[in-house]
Amino acid sequence: MTSTFDKGNERQPSPWHCAPVLPLAPQTDLPGRIGVYDSGVGGVSVLRAIRAALPRESLIYVADSGLAPYGDRTPEALQARAEQVADFFVRQQVKALVLACNTISVIAAANLRAKFSLPIVAMEPAIKPAALVTSSRTILVMATANTVRSQSVARLCAEFGGNVRILLQACPGLVERVERGEFTSAATLELVASYVRPGIEAGADTIVLGCTHYAFLAAQIANIAGPGVTIIESSVAVARQLARVNPALPLPEQAWHPTSFYTSGPPHSLSAFLTSVSEEHTEIRSLPLSHAE
Ligand code: DGL
Repeated sequence: MTSTFDKGNERQPSPWHCAPVLPLAPQTDLPGRIGVYDSGVGGVSVLRAIRAALPRESLIYVADSGLAPYGDRTPEALQARAEQVADFFVRQQVKALVLACNTISVIAAANLRAKFSLPIVAMEPAIKPAALVTSSRTILVMATANTVRSQSVARLCAEFGGNVRILLQACPGLVERVERGEFTSAATLELVASYVRPGIEAGADTIVLGCTHYAFLAAQIANIAGPGVTIIESSVAVARQLARVNPALPLPEQAWHPTSFYTSGPPHSLSAFLTSVSEEHTEIRSLPLSHAE
């Protein structure tokens, strides 16, 4: 089914270095939750894996959809934005933060860990497991332009690319389509095919989804790739890592609470997306951060 519900999510061209932080919304969330942060809706795939692994935890999800896609923004701008968002989570008194976004992770995780003392779980494209399972010794890594050209990916290629050919494929335009809930339109399938087919023709038998948004296109990617191609993504590994570093459960008097959703985009767009992927939600709040210059 194709669902297109938001055409008003235009990219903001300005950097955010000097963006004033707006007054915070009234504190309504209980402390001791786990924060989950993505440039938009892609991290919902990670949110689900976390919920499956840690069902007693209460979660806060931030979708920075008003500024998505992050994939081709400057590293400096992304680091500044990630700091703003992490600061928001700290004010919400989260006990741990999950960067449910490869792009934020490879660009900003080190900086955030240096500046904030809470446990921060980051992710990176699953090149290592892909290199271990490929039979054709060729893997295709689909990711944003920023992730493809990051030092983290260069390190992974150096470490695991000895006997394996690693084809790095930046996929501009896919994040926007997922943000709009446009999973199966002809244009989306054509775009997906243009990124998948060259790698398959070059012999890849394993595809790494190096962007959390692409998890919502996994069926389409698998369909285009054809039988015998393994698709690997990192959400379960992230949830496992969170379980390892997760501080103790919230205090007994703090009852479990449904996930709080915040977005810097139109709340109705996030609501429509969540409905389209059968993700239960109640209230969606505006992220109380400016994305002006
Ligand atoms: N979900 C983000 C990732 O994993 C997408 C980044 C973007 O907004 O371009 O990389």
